[in-house]
Amino acid sequence: MTNRIVVVSNRVAPVNEGKAAAGGLAVAVLAALRRSGGVWFGWSGEVVAVPDETIRITESGRLSRATLDLSERDYEEYYNRFANATLWPLFHYRVDLVNFDRRTYAGYRRVNADFARKLTGVLRPDDLIWVHDYHLIPLGEELRRLGVRNRIGFFLHTPLPPRELLATLPVHGELMRCFSFFDLVGFQTETDRGHLLDYLVREADARVEEREGGAAVRAFRRTFRVEAHPIGIDTRHVERSAARTENSREVERLQASLGGRRLIIGVDRLDYTKGLPQRFEAFAHLLRAYPRNLNRVSLMQIAPPTRGGVPEYTEIRRTLEELAGHVNGALADFDWVPIRYLNKSFSRRTLFGFLRLAQVGLVTPLRDGMNLVAMEYLAAQRPEDPGVLMLSRFAGATQSLPDALIVNPYDVEGVAKAIQAALTMPLEERRERWRESMHVLRSNSVEVWHRRFVTRLSEA
Ligand code: UDP
Ligand code: G6P
Repeated sequence: MTNRIVVVSNRVAPVNEGKAAAGGLAVAVLAALRRSGGVWFGWSGEVVAVPDETIRITESGRLSRATLDLSERDYEEYYNRFANATLWPLFHYRVDLVNFDRRTYAGYRRVNADFARKLTGVLRPDDLIWVHDYHLIPLGEELRRLGVRNRIGFFLHTPLPPRELLATLPVHGELMRCFSFFDLVGFQTETDRGHLLDYLVREADARVEEREGGAAVRAFRRTFRVEAHPIGIDTRHVERSAARTENSREVERLQASLGGRRLIIGVDRLDYTKGLPQRFEAFAHLLRAYPRNLNRVSLMQIAPPTRGGVPEYTEIRRTLEELAGHVNGALADFDWVPIRYLNKSFSRRTLFGFLRLAQVGLVTPLRDGMNLVAMEYLAAQRPEDPGVLMLSRFAGATQSLPDALIVNPYDVEGVAKAIQAALTMPLEERRERWRESMHVLRSNSVEVWHRRFVTRLSEA
């Protein structure tokens, strides 16, 4: 008999595909758990005055969702502050944006202890526990403190920066020690994995033994494994769904509205890590440097707002509104708007149809753990006439997709030049690059990622 899998993450996504998804983690976990079944434990997304002690369980096929609410104080200290205004910028190399204070760190620890306590109520002795992302790094330690002896794995969806940046966090020692309470710690890329190992060797005197598939680490008087397991998408599903959506009302309306002009697309949560101001600048530069694109090409940027309680997110929103307004004011014509800037989310089905229509997919984050939209863009293309994926060298996805057009998002002129190259790329080269990339996506789907991690965890 295989063990039941209990996934724990801060956010538990709605099970319905029609609803807009809440980021890469939720999309990947849902795709994986829907097949294998199991329990998904985490925050409901609700903030209430006094959270209930009991966990809400809802069943959908073989998947149960077990959710809890957060109090206003927990939401502020744990979610808005320590997770999203301290760890998120730090892990994305934005030390300049990090806000640290010990009170919010205490809130973060408190919520982790609370998650652990409530989780023990649903655990069985042979469950495999799989914890996800930066919100819950101390969860392993808290579970061990409560006497939980199950195998516990952890996967970080974001990057992990180099030791010198980690060390700027006043509580770095305590936080990094938390990794040792898991049996297996997984990262998106070899780079991220290397950063943890380097940290542990130099700051914690760790002994590291490289074995097949990853490292066995001895540190803090514990032994655990540290491995890279790049995530994937449900490739076949995206391919099929994009093809089916081709004739949907939304896709037909988008096509009609273009009036034969070409489409460049970007889809990102409205986050300062995604490089959106630089992207708008690069597009404006394209129009100025290659004026034959005027009134012939549009950029559609879908950017659903997130984390509105964190000031940096309000700030980036204002910046982009101004920039889009500025570019459109300067370059639009009476029958054409250069940048279509949308602050709303779409269902994944509709999104795949939009991605399929676009000749260029712009994925230019300043730093990104992986980036599923890059993969979805590729899988949504028409095999006989695929578009071109432009990918930042600072996205995790670049490490497995060398056949994308790789760019440096800080180089505005360079990106403009690359967009021009993408718009004029001959069909044969587009097909060749797309075929190579699809080969990678088909052999490393989200199902393979899930199976591989769970197998490694049960062997750990
Ligand atoms: N997404 C969505 N609707 C939207 C925007 C995004 O369903 O309006 C999905 C998108 O298809 C992708 C995920 O959200 O699967 C975003 O994951 P990614 O890894 O690209 O970025 P993250 O948001 O995790 O930083
Ligand atoms: C990224 C993070 C996830 C998070 C998602 C959406 O993908 O890695 O952990 O769930 O963004 O962010 P939110 O704060 O809305 O959950």
